[in-house]
Amino acid sequence: MSFRIGNLTISPGVLMAPMAGITDSPFRRVLKSLGCPAVVTEMVSAEGLIRQGIGTLTLLDYAPEEKPIIVQLFGSKPDSMAEAARLVSQHGFAAIDINMGCPVPKVVNKGAGAALMREPERAEALVRAVRQASDLPLSVKLRSGWDQTERNVAEVARRLSGAGVDAFFVHPRTRAQAYQGQSDWSLIAETVRAVEQPVIGNGDLHSLADGKRMLDETGCAGLMVGRAALKDPWLPGLLAGVDMPYPATIDERNRVFCMHLDFMLACAGSEQRAVQRMRKHLAWYSQGLRGAAHLRRQLQHMDTADDMRQAFTQLEAINQKRTSTP
Ligand SMILES: Cc1cc2nc3c(=O)[nH]c(=O)nc-3n(C[C@H](O)[C@H](O)[C@H](O)COP(=O)(O)O)c2cc1C
Repeated sequence: MSFRIGNLTISPGVLMAPMAGITDSPFRRVLKSLGCPAVVTEMVSAEGLIRQGIGTLTLLDYAPEEKPIIVQLFGSKPDSMAEAARLVSQHGFAAIDINMGCPVPKVVNKGAGAALMREPERAEALVRAVRQASDLPLSVKLRSGWDQTERNVAEVARRLSGAGVDAFFVHPRTRAQAYQGQSDWSLIAETVRAVEQPVIGNGDLHSLADGKRMLDETGCAGLMVGRAALKDPWLPGLLAGVDMPYPATIDERNRVFCMHLDFMLACAGSEQRAVQRMRKHLAWYSQGLRGAAHLRRQLQHMDTADDMRQAFTQLEAINQKRTSTP
């Protein structure tokens, strides 16, 4: 299984979904080291890029081993998106993705993210503007639609397919659903039938079996893994066919957590910031393990990287005891 976004081939056809506040450079490096074929940046504001906001510019940083890496832009104005596309075209990204799925009020109230699915004309103008501004392969990430009464993803995709889009990522939940409830894969299938371009399915991929079922049921060209990879960063590699002991053993969990922490220490600017940003990841890595609830209660009191390493080593000891005792 592989797919193309214009002249970019992603093979095997699996990638990690963009997630603001989560898929930063350290986490993407972890994913890549575990065999995830491609990654996407967090969403990057077109207006922020034009203003040269320092926080926004930082989102463009990546390490060489993250390649191929796709940059995701969001905005509501065709001119600004074109300008942003020109700016990011100098950064070595493999493709540009346009966000038409973000449900948060701060974004949709400005006409960006999922709001674009209610305004197909502007969405099309935006795509045409980006297409003209950059030669990079171009994808668009869509939701089902605005709400249960407006599930127009196939219609929007059909319209945008004539405006220069090379591939579509489909997250089949509505804006009203945000991240709740089940994703409706039948809308991925509907989009596959509506456009010639590759459609990559996203939503509720938790296992190898889910991946197979999504490919079979929808005819999608590739798989995009979302929240399941937070506690299971091995999953994208597994879906891509990497041969590995799975599920990951407790010592492998510890190894990957420590690697993640080291990547974060190298990138966050200070140990304090690194520890702060690793708290949620430590909670995810430990999910489902014996002693995890206790560890979560201690998180706010962990001030140093060593506190975190020690906490995980203790967790490893508790869980190894469990597996070796009949
Ligand atoms: C905390 C969080 C942040 C997200 N940020 C982005 C984003 O920046 N851009 C985007 O297109 N989607 C974003 N998403 C949506 C995911 O890419 C994905 O479409 C969604 O989680 C559905 O997949 P899942 O059911 O496998 O989690 C975000 C989701 C979450 C939970």
